[in-house]
Amino acid sequence: QANERESMYLVSEFAQQYFQDILIRHEKGKAIGLSYFKERGFTEDTIKKFKLGYSLDEWEAFTKEAIKNGYKLDYLERTGLTIVKENRQFDRFKGRVMFPIHSMSGRVLGFGGRILLTDKKAAKYMNSPESEIYHKSKVLYGIYHAKQSIAKEDNCYLVEGYTDVIQLHQRGIENVVASSGTALTSEQIRLINRLTKNITVLFDGDAAGLRASLRGIDLILEQGMNVKVCSFPQGEDPDSFARKNAYEDLVLYLEGNSRDFISFKASLLMEDSGNDPIRKADTIRDMVQSISKIPDRIQREVYVQECARIMQISEDVLFNTLAQLGKKNL
Ligand code: CTP
Ligand code: MN
Ligand code: MN
Ligand code: MN
Ligand code: MN
Repeated sequence: QANERESMYLVSEFAQQYFQDILIRHEKGKAIGLSYFKERGFTEDTIKKFKLGYSLDEWEAFTKEAIKNGYKLDYLERTGLTIVKENRQFDRFKGRVMFPIHSMSGRVLGFGGRILLTDKKAAKYMNSPESEIYHKSKVLYGIYHAKQSIAKEDNCYLVEGYTDVIQLHQRGIENVVASSGTALTSEQIRLINRLTKNITVLFDGDAAGLRASLRGIDLILEQGMNVKVCSFPQGEDPDSFARKNAYEDLVLYLEGNSRDFISFKASLLMEDSGNDPIRKADTIRDMVQSISKIPDRIQREVYVQECARIMQISEDVLFNTLAQLGKKNL
């Protein structure tokens, strides 16, 4: 129901303001949260732009304040900001730096909260649960702040995390959104597709992210978009890399290391399969699967030629496998 959703937006906007006030004005917020963000190199302008905040490490500091300001417990619970258990209420986010998640139009949908010390047993990030206003699979972190730049640059950088988006912005690269560590969905890609046909996926420099993300990329091809990939040195992610490099060097790196996805995947799979004929056959099928997702016939043919070259096999083999898949008619 529309006015119930509106009430959930309003309580989320109150929370955003509350968490930011704590970060900027409260003694503990300043000492713990603000100094954490400053240590990470975030400026005060950046903190305000992304409406970053801090949640106090207390049982119900936020919930009490929200209720005092007239917000109903029902909506606090339905947004997941408050957890109600056996007639007692608790703040979901405690002692975390807060990243509000915005819709394309700037409404607050939910939050990601990061603990400050990662050696605890708790998960590094806690996120708002699914709700009537927050559907994880349909949201891209940063889209509100990136949309103009994505359209202007006619390209969108896709990263894994909140801090990657923020740090790149601060360095002057604003056409960037994050999948927030989850597997990419068609709905998320459609959000980008409205703004540009070009996506460059920036992987964290660890093997884990890379291979899992390869799957999601076929979904981008399916929507007729062009995909490039760019990886970072071992142990670096876009955030840490951007911190160490000035804008010009960052742009040079991105331009110099972005590769067309199909060729990138072909080379990667080739390295994996080596001279093993069975694995090489799997690799060919895997590649053809990806190519078959591309709606445009001419583009498919160009990729077949490219793959044949990289994988050192004849184009005929690839075209035949493509025909066998039978999903698209050549
Ligand atoms: N993530 C999550 N829950 C976790 C770990 C990660 O939701 N327990 C999501 C977050 O959105 C995070 C993204 O996955 O931003 C990428 O994860 P990771 O690379 O581990 O974190 P970073 O974004 O690099 O965060 P930081 O630099 O603060 O460690
Ligand atoms: Mn909905
Ligand atoms: Mn990662
Ligand atoms: Mn990361
Ligand atoms: Mn990081």
